[in-house]
Amino acid sequence: MLSALKLIVTTIWLLLPAYTPNNFAVLFGGGKPLDFGKTFFDGKRILGDGKTIRGFISGIAGGVAIANVQYVIEKALNFKIFSTLLYIDFLTLSLLLSFGAMSGDAFGSFLKRRIGYKRGDFLPVIDQLMFLFLALAFASLSPSFFKLFDLTRILIAILITPLLHLTTNYIAYKLKLKKVPW
Ligand code: CTP
Ligand code: MG
Repeated sequence: MLSALKLIVTTIWLLLPAYTPNNFAVLFGGGKPLDFGKTFFDGKRILGDGKTIRGFISGIAGGVAIANVQYVIEKALNFKIFSTLLYIDFLTLSLLLSFGAMSGDAFGSFLKRRIGYKRGDFLPVIDQLMFLFLALAFASLSPSFFKLFDLTRILIAILITPLLHLTTNYIAYKLKLKKVPW
């Protein structure tokens, strides 16, 4: 029981650099859309107004900043997860997790626009997991990924992420930061 809890908490800790970027985008996004307002071959927007350049960049910066706070906390409280890695390897990994998360988020919007869903419409699985899949895919380009992630942790992540995503979005909605509760 205790080890199952430890596994879940460790997995969340490892994925905070991928979980937090979208929240930073909600807080600091706005301005020029990432697709510059352009349409795709189907006449629909490439990504839509919900994906902005400022959101994308602040999301990545926020995710990497959170990772650095985690690294400092590990050093201060003397436990080793990210800090088993050399700082440069840790920085590369956290950048890939955050960049991958924002890219997956944008790719999800790309797919939503293709099937005719408007900005903010709810699309199960894609909304909750596409960011995770690309975060993991990008992070796995770094050799240090395999020092921290194994199949168990990845499976746990796929199971718990939709719940975490829906919970934080509901809180953001209650705080009037998001227009919709999902
Ligand atoms: N956001 C942003 N830039 C990003 C991602 C998000 O500015 N790259 C901001 C937008 O204000 C967006 C909000 O965060 O509306 C919520 O993000 P998300 O739920 O990912 O976007 P949606 O509005 O639901 O749009 P979509 O249907 O394209 O997913
Ligand atoms: Mg949304």
